Amino acid sequence: MGFLCSSTSSSIVFKLGVSLVFLVSFSSYTPADAYDPLDPSGNITIKWDIITWTGDGYVATVTMYNFQQYRHIQAPGWTLGWSWAKREVIWGMNGGQTTEQGDCSKFKGTIPHCCKKTPSVVDLLPGTPYNQQVANCCRGGVINSWAQDPATAVSSFQLTVGQAGTTNKTVRVPKNFTLKAPGPGYTCGPGKIVKPSRFVGTDKRRVTQAMMTWNVTCTYSQFLAQRTPTCCVSLSSFYNSTIVPCPTCSCGCRNTSQPGNCVDSKGPRIASVVVPNTGKSLYVPPLVQCTNHMCPVRIHWHVKVNYKAYWRVKVTITNFNYNMNYSQWNLVVQHPNFDNLTQTFSFNYKPLIPYASINDTGILWGVKFYNDLLMQAGPYGNVQSELLFQKEASAFTLEKGWAFPRRIYFNGDNCVMPPPDSYPWLPNTASYKLIGSLFARIAGSISLLLTAFLHGIL
Ligand SMILES: *[C@@H]1O[C@H](CO)[C@@H](O)[C@H](O)[C@H]1NC(C)=O
Ligand SMILES: *[C@@H]1O[C@H](CO)[C@@H](O)[C@H](O)[C@H]1NC(C)=O
Ligand SMILES: *[C@@H]1O[C@H](CO)[C@@H](O)[C@H](O)[C@H]1NC(C)=O
Ligand SMILES: *[C@@H]1O[C@H](CO)[C@@H](O)[C@H](O)[C@H]1NC(C)=O
Ligand SMILES: *[C@@H]1O[C@H](CO)[C@@H](O)[C@H](O)[C@H]1NC(C)=O
Ligand SMILES: *[C@@H]1O[C@H](CO)[C@@H](O)[C@H](O)[C@H]1NC(C)=O
Ligand SMILES: *[C@@H]1O[C@H](CO)[C@@H](O)[C@H](O)[C@H]1NC(C)=O
Ligand SMILES: *[C@@H]1O[C@H](CO)[C@@H](O)[C@H](O)[C@H]1NC(C)=O
Ligand SMILES: *[C@@H]1O[C@H](CO)[C@@H](O)[C@H](O)[C@H]1NC(C)=O
Repeated sequence: MGFLCSSTSSSIVFKLGVSLVFLVSFSSYTPADAYDPLDPSGNITIKWDIITWTGDGYVATVTMYNFQQYRHIQAPGWTLGWSWAKREVIWGMNGGQTTEQGDCSKFKGTIPHCCKKTPSVVDLLPGTPYNQQVANCCRGGVINSWAQDPATAVSSFQLTVGQAGTTNKTVRVPKNFTLKAPGPGYTCGPGKIVKPSRFVGTDKRRVTQAMMTWNVTCTYSQFLAQRTPTCCVSLSSFYNSTIVPCPTCSCGCRNTSQPGNCVDSKGPRIASVVVPNTGKSLYVPPLVQCTNHMCPVRIHWHVKVNYKAYWRVKVTITNFNYNMNYSQWNLVVQHPNFDNLTQTFSFNYKPLIPYASINDTGILWGVKFYNDLLMQAGPYGNVQSELLFQKEASAFTLEKGWAFPRRIYFNGDNCVMPPPDSYPWLPNTASYKLIGSLFARIAGSISLLLTAFLHGIL
């Protein structure tokens, strides 16, 4: 594992160390995963604002902010639960609904929307009648990540609570908040009473204030999610014809006793669809195309060209799952040259700066209406981009796997990397020097062209 030694900064060594440990034991997560070094303060904050008091309780707006940089919530979306502290009931809801009404037999006349002690709320679907909507609702529980789009990283609903306190002294904060998104993985803290929210009117001339506000913070842990890996990485380069495939059995093993029907329906439980116009979500087991890795998604990193002052990588994301279209997908990549990323072609890019001093990680995602949808397995089941890096003379090398990513996440899940000692090697030092000097000459002219090209674009 020689390439560790080429690092200069101790924290790079630390991070490489972490990723190497990960590489060695990629399927055994530890509870320490609750802390994500790439997104240390990532969390989902739930804000519960009491807007008015009513005769027997209150009306509240509940808003979820996904402050996670790269982990989004995909279909069929979130389910938020809690335990009422007293005998509260929900008279009505807008922009969301509980999944079960529970036992309301004690009520006569007007029947509550939900009488359960532990209600579970889901979002409504797009196309919900206007009079049942509230701002930021009705996206089928799908929430974008903060880096991709803060405007759609928020989800809200409104509820009218009865048999509750009617002053800030008698009302009780619900207990035991739970968030499924869609599966397990999140742990929520207790509700904490905070300074009441202030709302600025649309004309910005009047500010109103909640009667009372509490916040709940939920954090994600891959350990709790207990997911088997859902993606893997393969590598290649222009200087060696070897294509290093995803490690065998990265996400599951191929069932060799069924050669004709080689699909894995026991793989990662991620595929689900929302049935239109019913609000119901349906779990559809993944149908993964037969490969040696059995991952629903593969990321291929190809070191494509080595110019004099720049180098270029082609990234291809391939979907092997026949039962899943990934919308608003994202990729997080860690590589020491990201601080000199000059251009990305047909993907959006934003640096993620986990430690103030290191700028080696970025999030890439699709361009809206162009390649933000990664189609199900098949001829259209892939998206591609090229990344152009400016070389940092002191660090750049094709040796020891430096040009390959240190780690990659797809939709927030860590992808299985090939072992570092299998990376494509330079043929050998002697021929490398020859090729190197050839390259330098060719690259000289290309880089002139390229510089002109870049000046034209930037
Ligand atoms: C949640 O995320 C926000 C935004 O990054 C941050 O300001 C806040 O401190 C985080 N909360 C916790 C409890 O980590
Ligand atoms: C409750 O409301 C009173 C004023 O009506 C205010 O002084 C007090 O700070 C509030 N308490 C909380 C916990 O919000
Ligand atoms: C909250 O959960 C804890 C542990 O599961 C349980 O002991 C407690 O009774 C729950 N509280 C309520 C109000 O349901
Ligand atoms: C409560 O959450 C809101 C929304 O995320 C945030 O603006 C506010 O600062 C939080 N309050 C505290 C005390 O954390
Ligand atoms: C492989 O396929 C055979 C035949 O369908 C089945 O009996 C067996 O359980 C499968 N094994 C695994 C590991 O899925
Ligand atoms: C994926 O999207 C295409 C085009 O919108 C659609 O035809 C196909 O049924 C979708 N597949 C799944 C599994 O949802
Ligand atoms: C991090 O790198 C990106 C891409 O080169 C650059 O746009 C950004 O300004 C850098 N940020 C810092 C804080 O160095
Ligand atoms: C690469 O980025 C680092 C940090 O942002 C900067 O100090 C350095 O000058 C850059 N190198 C080149 C060749 O632009
Ligand atoms: C290409 O890299 C592999 C390691 O992945 C190595 O075994 C092989 O010798 C290299 N090919 C050449 C021509 O050097």
